[in-house]
Amino acid sequence: MGKNKNNQTIWKTRIPKKGSNLFQKIGSSIEIDKNLYKQDIVGSVAHAEMLFRQKIISFKTKNKIIYGLNKIKNEIKKKKFTFNYKHEDIHMNIEKRLFEIIGDDAGYVHTARSRNDQVITDFKIWMRVATNDINKKLDVLIKTILKIAQKNVQTIMPGFTHLKNAQAVSFAHYMMAYVEMFNRDKFRFNNNLENLYENPLGVAALTGTSFNIDRNFTTKKLGFKKPTNNSIDTVADRDFVLDFLFSASVCSLHISRIAEELIIWNSEGFGLINLSDKIVTGSSIMPQKKNPDLLEYLRGKSGNSFGNLFSMLTILKGLPLSYFKDLQDDKELVFKTNETLNNCISILNEVLNNFSPNKKKMLELAEKGYITATDLADYLVKNHNMSFRRAYQVTASIVNFAEKKKKKLNQLDLNELKKIEPMLTSDVLKVFDLKYSVNSKKSFGGTSFANIKKMITKYKKN
Ligand code: ARG
Repeated sequence: MGKNKNNQTIWKTRIPKKGSNLFQKIGSSIEIDKNLYKQDIVGSVAHAEMLFRQKIISFKTKNKIIYGLNKIKNEIKKKKFTFNYKHEDIHMNIEKRLFEIIGDDAGYVHTARSRNDQVITDFKIWMRVATNDINKKLDVLIKTILKIAQKNVQTIMPGFTHLKNAQAVSFAHYMMAYVEMFNRDKFRFNNNLENLYENPLGVAALTGTSFNIDRNFTTKKLGFKKPTNNSIDTVADRDFVLDFLFSASVCSLHISRIAEELIIWNSEGFGLINLSDKIVTGSSIMPQKKNPDLLEYLRGKSGNSFGNLFSMLTILKGLPLSYFKDLQDDKELVFKTNETLNNCISILNEVLNNFSPNKKKMLELAEKGYITATDLADYLVKNHNMSFRRAYQVTASIVNFAEKKKKKLNQLDLNELKKIEPMLTSDVLKVFDLKYSVNSKKSFGGTSFANIKKMITKYKKN
């Protein structure tokens, strides 16, 4: 390539006219993909080493390239590097600077590769780390929830369906439901790693290369497990981007559900939890207010993640093979989603460390709505040889009777109960006790105290 003048594009010989300034600005991705500088340099070092081992470049050239790349890495780290949108992206910004530092030997680094394989190599390396970081954050969150659960095994509250009191549960069991969700999120992110361990480097623009490269060498060097199978698929594939955005969307959806739950419980109508002053905000006009803004932030942010997932799906829909500029937007979507999700997990963790259940209110609410009716029906099946449907009807009649008398089920005396079902004995009265009710759900996965304690121990060992 002759003398490389630094303000000239790499394709200057073929396209001598200066490109439109507007297009250069719009088409440049440097502000986004400069985030990938470390991965880009690691990738280029591995590539240069491989080229030397395969006798494609000389020892001296390889050393010069690696020296230059390390110098660039330090410059960027120390913020002494000037990113130039005229060089479009991180790959060309680094290559340009390499020419300035080591001269024409820099022209050898792009042998047997293209930006098409380079960019996804960088991106996959970045995503492996981001995925593991999210999982570490989820571990912290799960630990926080376990701590809350451990303190609240015997805290009784109503479980809801349709937001109507359904059956009594332990507050710990409720919280442990979220442990299951966040644990599935971890599992989902972990599954994505399989794909992220496939090395794209060496497929070049779309066909592979006529140079005798060793893709297994760069695979090992860059922490991948195997080279990708098909060069065309490799440069066109953004499934790994969808996987990340989908996993993040589901996780943020879970966060939005717990956030909404806590918002409802914190409302005056429910009053089931108190939020500490650390996590509420005031009103500009209403002096009495303590608003759950942070929880609302968490609920709202799931919308951004879904939007980013849908953007990527839409970009890919109907896109022919292989590389197109359309794909360049993948990084902005992922970086934004990643940042938001990391913030949301940290904020949720902070919220959970700064709220307390209002145990008295939980119990009071659980005493409303004839919440032990199902326990009574179960009792009739077990002790009076009724079918469940028959027991259901008898219980419904008892609930109707209690409602008419304006009494709770545990305020009915035996004689009143016997008016509806003469077979009943005083033994039945125990089923109206909430603790008895919660603790009787001993089936695997149910809300009995012993079950919950076992689950907490299991997760603490993980
Ligand atoms: N900045 C580009 C991207 O992120 C890198 C790949 C460019 N390849 C190309 N043929 N224009 O997608």
